[in-house]
Amino acid sequence: MAAPYILVLYYSRHGATQAMAQQIARGIEKQSGIEARLRTVPPVSATCEATAAGIPGTGAIYCTEEDLRNCAGLALGSPTRFGNMAAPMKYFIDSTSALWMTGALSGKPAAVFTSSASLHGGQETTLISMMLPLMHHGMILCGLPYSEPDLTSTRSGGTPYGPSHVAGEKSQAPLTEEEKRLCQAQGLRLASIATKLTSE
Ligand SMILES: Cc1cc2nc3c(=O)[nH]c(=O)nc-3n(C[C@H](O)[C@H](O)[C@H](O)COP(=O)(O)O)c2cc1C
Repeated sequence: MAAPYILVLYYSRHGATQAMAQQIARGIEKQSGIEARLRTVPPVSATCEATAAGIPGTGAIYCTEEDLRNCAGLALGSPTRFGNMAAPMKYFIDSTSALWMTGALSGKPAAVFTSSASLHGGQETTLISMMLPLMHHGMILCGLPYSEPDLTSTRSGGTPYGPSHVAGEKSQAPLTEEEKRLCQAQGLRLASIATKLTSE
């Protein structure tokens, strides 16, 4: 039987959310017996139903319905766009009604993460916007507890609703050490909860 995995599903235009996804995957892989599976979603066209190449030029490969159906847990990441998740991620989620109607994701743990240009640019509303469809799917949301000391000391990203990153005006800032540790803590927490739930 294939090893259980946490699906780390993200959209990233300039690489910041992708860098967070990689740190979350590192955290997941600290938990024995469970793997991280990184996947992305294609961009959407405003003018027509354009067809993207089957394999993206960089980053993770595109997520399939089966990747999502069979995951033991989900980490969902998107850049902050106008205080909300990016359209390509929303477009992908809107294609998951078959999983919704069969309750395929119900009872599985999930976490959310985001990157924004500015400190007060809407990270928390974006994280909450990503939680809403996951709750409709019946997923169990797990954020970050304040027992993570970085949550109190960070002067950049990191929220109790999920990890975040402040990327700067030109998306130039690398992840801070606090942001990296919080991504990894979220990945490990998700993997640990998924392991407990799947062993029941
Ligand atoms: C259309 C659009 C809307 C955006 N809205 C916000 C916003 O509301 N607040 C903010 O701080 N940054 C905003 N940004 C900046 C992105 O959130 C930021 O560059 C992010 O780090 C990009 O992540 P990525 O490198 O994974 O693509 C916006 C960017 C775009 C293109």
